[in-house]
Amino acid sequence: MKAIVCHKHGAPLDVLTVEDQSNPVPGRGQVVIDVKAAAITYVDALLVQGMYQYLPPLPFVPGTEVSGIVKSVGDSVERISAGDRVVTGLLSGGFAEQALAEAAQCRPLPADIDFGTILGVQYAYGTALNALQLKGQLQKGETLLVLGAAGGVGLAMIDLGKMMGARVIAAASTDEKLALCRAYGADETINYATGDLKKETKELTGGSGADVICDIVGGEYSEPALRAIAWHGRFLVIGFTAGIPKLPLNLVLLKCCRVIGVNTGGMLLKEPETSLNMMKQVDSLMADGKLNPRVSKRYALENTAQALDDFINRRIIGKVVIEP
Ligand SMILES: NC(=O)c1ccc[n+]([C@@H]2O[C@H](COP(=O)([O-])OP(=O)(O)OC[C@H]3O[C@@H](n4cnc5c(N)ncnc54)[C@H](OP(=O)(O)O)[C@@H]3O)[C@@H](O)[C@H]2O)c1
Repeated sequence: MKAIVCHKHGAPLDVLTVEDQSNPVPGRGQVVIDVKAAAITYVDALLVQGMYQYLPPLPFVPGTEVSGIVKSVGDSVERISAGDRVVTGLLSGGFAEQALAEAAQCRPLPADIDFGTILGVQYAYGTALNALQLKGQLQKGETLLVLGAAGGVGLAMIDLGKMMGARVIAAASTDEKLALCRAYGADETINYATGDLKKETKELTGGSGADVICDIVGGEYSEPALRAIAWHGRFLVIGFTAGIPKLPLNLVLLKCCRVIGVNTGGMLLKEPETSLNMMKQVDSLMADGKLNPRVSKRYALENTAQALDDFINRRIIGKVVIEP
C-alpha cells in the first residue's frame, strides 16, 4: 500500500515522502480500514514538525483521524465486521491506503454522510459544544465573537452558535475566509488582519461588547478581544495557533468577566462520562440534520505534504481532507 512517511521532523514539504509499505495486519482487538478519507488536523501539523506533546518514534506515518471501510478484523473483535463503514481517531498511521485501528474506538458512519464530511465532526463540534454549552453557557440572543472563525473549530462554533440562537460575529484574516463564515451563518464579520478587533466588536455590539468570546487563535488577538468583552462575559480559551498570549488581569476585574479554559481532550480523561454524553449529543444533533459540516477542499494522498504546508501557512479555508 502507499503511505506518507515522516523520517525526520521538519516542514512537511521537506520531510514527508510517499512510499510503498506492506499492508497492516490486525492484532487482537484491532481492525484494518481501507482509508477513504483522512482529516488534516492541527495535531498532524505539530507531529510532523516535532512540536506535539507526544511524538511517535521516527519513522512514522502521520494521520490521526480517518474514515473508511473495514477490510479485516483481528481476534476478539465482535461489534465490527469487514465491510462496515467506520470513522476513528488514531495516534498515527492515517495518511495511507490502509490504517490499523482499535476496534473499540471505531464508530459506525451514518448511511447518509460521506467519508470526508464526517471527519472532524466529533473534534470540531465536540469542542464547540463543550465551549459554548458547558463552559460558556451561551444564551439565546447573546452575542458570540469567534476568533479564527474560518478554521475547522471556528466554523463549528458559528454553526452551533447560530443553532443556539446567538448573534454571531466571525473574525478571521482574509475577506475570502470571512465570506465562508457568512455562508456558515455568521451575522457580522471582522477582518482582524486589516481592521481593529476591539473597536469593531464594540461598534457591532452598540458599545456593550460580546457576551461570549471563543479564542481559538491566541497571540496578538486575545487582548483586543478581551477588551471588547461584555459585563459578565465569558472568555473561552481554546487554542493558540497564533501563539500563547499573556493577558492583564485588571481587564477581568473591570468587566467582571470569566476567563475559562476549554480542554476537550483533557475532559475525555478527567470526566469520561461528561465527555461521552457530549459526544452522544453531537451524534444525535448530526443524525437530526442540525449540524452542517462541510469539506472545503480534497487532496490526493500524494499531495499530503502540500496540504499540510497549506494548513500551516494559513492558506486553508474551512476543512480539508486527504482522499487516498
Ligand atoms: N481546547 C480544545 O478543546 C481544542 C479542541 C480542538 C482544537 N483545539 C485547538 O484549536 C485550534 C484551532 O484548531 P482548528 O482545527 O480550527 O485549526 P485551523 O482549521 O487551522 O484553524 C485555526 C485558525 O487559526 C488562525 N490562525 C491565526 N494565526 C495563525 C497562525 N500563525 N498559523 C496558523 N493559523 C493561524 C487561522 O485563521 P486566520 O488566518 O483567519 O487567522 C486558522 O483558520 C488549534 O490550536 C487546536 O489545537 C482546541
